[in-house]
Amino acid sequence: MLEKDIQEILFTEEQLKKRVEEIARQIEADYAGREIMFIGILRGSFVFMADLCRAVDLPCTLDFMSVSSYGTGTTSSGQVQITKDLSEDITGRHVIVVEDILDSGNTLSYLLNILEHRHPASVRLCALLDKPDRRVKPVKLHYSGFSIPDAFVVGYGLDYAEKYRSLPYIGILKPEVYGG
Ligand code: PRP
Repeated sequence: MLEKDIQEILFTEEQLKKRVEEIARQIEADYAGREIMFIGILRGSFVFMADLCRAVDLPCTLDFMSVSSYGTGTTSSGQVQITKDLSEDITGRHVIVVEDILDSGNTLSYLLNILEHRHPASVRLCALLDKPDRRVKPVKLHYSGFSIPDAFVVGYGLDYAEKYRSLPYIGILKPEVYGG
């Protein structure tokens, strides 16, 4: 039913699963002997976060934050606001921020700066998708799933106007759906 709005599948379920496993192996190698605190940025990261944390064979805790940046449009506003803060203290913790997509960098540069000021032992960023051509603010991305062109992508947690998050693959939305 949602498929009719998809122009092209960018990453299949199998490709996503394989890449998540590869990132998990990298994280296991980097964090061996330590406990990880995964911080998922709602809402887009929830599917990736669920798959990634189950793929990483190390002790971990999970927490979530919610920030607003996009509204329902297709471009980042640069205005970032915390709408739900963490439940846990991150002091002395090894934090991995988990995101679905790194786009302009507005959201993550703001967020990483805030987290650094809370004195974690370390903070790294893991984003499934990266749109480097769209970057406005520089952000260090330690774990990147796929670099993608500037297309409007949905599925595997990513939405357009809150829909399509439940698609098991990542696809490019037909421009007529968002009036492009
Ligand atoms: C997306 C994504 C990042 C942000 C990245 O979230 O999850 O938080 O946009 O964009 P930027 O690099 O241009 O700042 P969105 O605001 O779409 O909210 P959602 O996760 O609830 O879909």
